[in-house]
Amino acid sequence: MADGIRVARFDDVPEGGALVVDRTVAGTGDDVAVFRDGDEVFALDDTCTHQEASLADGWVEDGEVECPLHAARFSLRTGEALSLPAVVRARCHRVEVRDGEVWLLPGTPCEAQAG
Ligand code: FES
Repeated sequence: MADGIRVARFDDVPEGGALVVDRTVAGTGDDVAVFRDGDEVFALDDTCTHQEASLADGWVEDGEVECPLHAARFSLRTGEALSLPAVVRARCHRVEVRDGEVWLLPGTPCEAQAG
């Protein structure tokens, strides 16, 4: 697990969107949403911390994702809740692009990749 899970080719992650890695694959408590914002990828627990909504269905822009249900915004880089009604940070995971492939390190905090 130390090397992570290869989840997709970078080009297969929709720009301004996300794909979902099932919790049974990721070995996590929640499904993991892998987002692409420009040339960068980010990973957060998929379920909004406010209620039951998939953040992967949200709107990605400027390093943030907006929840599709009540429009709370989260930092893709840290998972921090940036606007109401969410007040709890979304759990983030380290994700890397290696040779054009996206690798998820479930449970490794995203802070480990913050540059
Ligand atoms: S479910 Fe995400 S803001 Fe309410």
